[in-house]
Amino acid sequence: MWLILDEAHITNVAVHPEYRKNNIGRTLMLEMMRRAALMGAVRMTLEVRPSNAAARRLYASLGFEVKGIRRRYYTDTNEDAIIMWKEDLTGCENRA
Ligand SMILES: CC(C)(COP(=O)(O)OP(=O)(O)OC[C@H]1O[C@@H](n2cnc3c(N)ncnc32)[C@H](O)[C@@H]1OP(=O)(O)O)[C@@H](O)C(=O)NCCC(=O)NCCS
Repeated sequence: MWLILDEAHITNVAVHPEYRKNNIGRTLMLEMMRRAALMGAVRMTLEVRPSNAAARRLYASLGFEVKGIRRRYYTDTNEDAIIMWKEDLTGCENRA
């Protein structure tokens, strides 16, 4: 995660294939949201492949919304990136 002024940008999140679907990805995201809020971020963004249904569903469940497209963002496949934002991290710093 990068923190740029009051914006947090998730650069990478991944769970080992053998450990997926155990709530680890959600826990990692909630912890990054908590740390970002504690460091003064008020919003958070990330890019995701349109084909990545698992990640898109995870982010949507955490309040991220589709806000734009970056054309041919992924150089390996030329796939576009969906830009998602969570506009308000208020309260995320209080997660137990
Ligand atoms: C995306 C990723 C990090 C999710 O990690 P995870 O630990 O498996 O996810 P969780 O168990 O915390 O699941 C949280 C939610 O994500 C969604 N989700 C996760 N895996 C899913 C799948 N295979 N299909 C559909 N939805 C899925 C669900 O909404 C799930 O909530 P639910 O269990 O209540 O339905 C993991 O699949 C991964 O590492 N993928 C490869 C790397 C990657 O794509 N990173 C993101 C790049 S933008």
